[in-house]
Amino acid sequence: MKKIIVANWKMAPASFESAKKTFRAIKKTADKLHNVQTVVCPPVLYLRELGASVTGHRTVLGAQNAFWNEEEAHTGEHSPDMLVRVGAKYVILGHSERRALGESDVMIREKVRACLLSGLYVIACVGEKERDAHGGYTKFIANQVRQSLPKINMGKQLLGNIIVAYEPLWAIGKKAKRAASVEDAVEATIFIKKTLVGIFGKDAVNIPILYGGSVNDQNAGEFLEQESVNGLLVGRASLDPETFSRILTARKK
Ligand code: PGA
Repeated sequence: MKKIIVANWKMAPASFESAKKTFRAIKKTADKLHNVQTVVCPPVLYLRELGASVTGHRTVLGAQNAFWNEEEAHTGEHSPDMLVRVGAKYVILGHSERRALGESDVMIREKVRACLLSGLYVIACVGEKERDAHGGYTKFIANQVRQSLPKINMGKQLLGNIIVAYEPLWAIGKKAKRAASVEDAVEATIFIKKTLVGIFGKDAVNIPILYGGSVNDQNAGEFLEQESVNGLLVGRASLDPETFSRILTARKK
C-alpha cells in the first residue's frame, strides 16, 4: 500500500519565493515515487500559486485548517470550498497547536464534517499530552477519536477520505525530548484503528493512520517499515527539501 507523507509547513517559510523553491525541490523527488503519496501543506496564502506548479497526482497540496461553515459572516476564516478552489486536496484538522488556541473536539468535528462534504481528504490529528504508567492515555486517545469525527452516516466514499494522524504532544516540535519509539507508534496506531472500527464498522479498517512528532531523516525509515503506520506527518523536517526528500525515500519495503 502507498504510504502518505505529509509536510506540515506551519507558519513558514516567511516568503513565497522560498516556498516555491522548497516545493519545487520536494516535487522533483516526490513525483518519482510510485509508493508514496506526498502532500505539502503550506500556509494558506501560498496555496493558489503553488498549485500552478502541481502536475499529476503524486505531489499534491493541503491546507492546515478550514472553517465549518460556508456562510459569509465569519471574519478571518476560509471555507472548505474556497480551499478546494485554490487547489487543496487535503486538510489538516485538529492539530494540537490549534487545539492549544482553543479548538474543541466539537469544533473539530464540525470542521471534519464540512471538509468531507466538500470532497477534501481530512487528516484528523489526535494524541495525548503525556503517557501515564496505567494506560490512561489510551482512554484519552479513544475519546478524542470518538469526539473529533462526525457521526454522519458515512458511506464508503466519505470514510475513504478520512486519515487519522497520531501525534503525541510530548513528541511534537522544538521542545520535544524525542520522537515516539516505533513501539509506541505501532501500539497507538493499532489502537486507533480498533477504535475506528468500533465506531464506523469494518470498512474503517482501511482508514490510514499516520505518525507525527519529531520525524526526521534518521527515524523515518523505521516508522515506514511498520505495517500499521500508513504514513507520516512531518513538521520541522519538511521545510528542508533535502531532509524531506530523504524522508520520502526512506521506505525500504
Ligand atoms: P515536528 O512537528 O515534526 O516538528 O515535531 C510535527 C507536527 O506538529 O505536525
